Amino acid sequence: MAKTLTRTTILDSLEKIGEEIKVSGWVHTVRAHGKIAFLDLRDRTGFLQVGAFTSELAEQFAKLGQQDVVSITGTLKKREEKYINSALPTGTIELEAKELTVLSKSAEMPFDMATKDLHLELPTLLDYRALTLRHPQQQAIFKVQEQIVEEFRKAAKELGCMEVFVPTLAPSASEGGADVFKVDYYGRDAYLTQSPQLYKQILLGAFERVFMISHAYRAEPSVTTRHLSEVVQIDVELAFIEEFGELLDALEFVGTSIIKHTASVCKDVLTLYGVDEPLIPVNIPRLTLREAQKIVTERTSRDLSRELDLNPEDEKEICAWAATEHKSDFVTITHFPTKKRAFYTHPDPENPEYSLSYDLLFKGIEISSGSKRINDYQQLLGAMKERGIDPSGFTLYLQAFKYGIPPEGGFSFGIERLTMKLLNLANVREASLFPRDMERIDERLSQVDQKTKKKS
Ligand code: AMO
Repeated sequence: MAKTLTRTTILDSLEKIGEEIKVSGWVHTVRAHGKIAFLDLRDRTGFLQVGAFTSELAEQFAKLGQQDVVSITGTLKKREEKYINSALPTGTIELEAKELTVLSKSAEMPFDMATKDLHLELPTLLDYRALTLRHPQQQAIFKVQEQIVEEFRKAAKELGCMEVFVPTLAPSASEGGADVFKVDYYGRDAYLTQSPQLYKQILLGAFERVFMISHAYRAEPSVTTRHLSEVVQIDVELAFIEEFGELLDALEFVGTSIIKHTASVCKDVLTLYGVDEPLIPVNIPRLTLREAQKIVTERTSRDLSRELDLNPEDEKEICAWAATEHKSDFVTITHFPTKKRAFYTHPDPENPEYSLSYDLLFKGIEISSGSKRINDYQQLLGAMKERGIDPSGFTLYLQAFKYGIPPEGGFSFGIERLTMKLLNLANVREASLFPRDMERIDERLSQVDQKTKKKS
């Protein structure tokens, strides 16, 4: 009895020229030309051209539709010089089919998947997410995202951090404000965490330096191109900080390492998206909020002297300045007004109206935020009191500080914004596999649409 062939992945088939192999995957496209036919097969490693050179097989190929799942055995051949496609890693080879098995039939696709660009409007792209994610251009976004997280882990470990996993259900809001999802917790109120902030600080008493990759929930009451209701945040928290500058160094080290690494290993994706290599100088420009506002005012004549934060237009402008003046796609902004930041933010001892806080901007948008924290128990209670926060919802958090937490600080990046900006995507939703927003929780929430309309 003939030995049954085990599956070869498409990329591995490059090593098997002249051999009989079996490949399995999805039919990307079929080109039937009467007695011969071709199809492009997709698996997790890439695409392979398969030829049917007998009329019987060509007939079977012609009956296939896009996204049918098939297994094909055949002989792997080198392509003739004139048929080589240098744009494809497998452009020098072709499988000459001998036998075709259909493993799962697909219904007729609602749109053509075989085009280079999908050309779909964002709502359609998301409504058909189970299908659109099968397109190489869409998949590439999430391969970039995987690299972002991989390098984050590496950089955080270089800083001496240990990876931890924390809950996303909590008794109180970490960042304050109203942008919080309340849930019924056995008849009591609980909240989906806005960030892993409180847990990462508590854990410093045990582990000194921690990092985490966790989901954060923001009940953002508006629809913008940069806000999601559920975000994946990558967080770092570092104890025994002596100088504020150490935190800025760590922030910029993590941010630039992520972008450098990802831009280098995903060069092909950057090319696919027409993106230039990011500008990363040795020293990232650093400005206080007031210095940044002064520069924006000089460039635009907008008076920002009463503004307590940078608005999206200002972020774009200050990044344009950094790109021209410092050949940098990054810029760090420090010293935001204390009252604009969360209660745990350390005021600047030299001028407590401003805080030891920072944002890292990249290509026109805030991608990370953080601060030195208040680590003194009494000062923390005072900061809560000043903001009208009831300490009783923060018992476990305060317990850590009552029993000794060193001077510390940290920061957090959102992986969707990092991905969005690295690939110059127009909307942060494109950088989330299944984005959550005010109008969507996989399904479009038409009732919410109506509610929103009524409100406005
Ligand atoms: P912040 O609220 O600034 O800080 O969030 C940190 C980073 O997470 C991302 N992010 C978002 N991305 C898309 N949509 C949103 N709604 C959204 N909200 C946040 C951004 C942002 O820079 N606890 C602090 C961090 C710290 O101090 O360590 C915090 O959560 O990239």
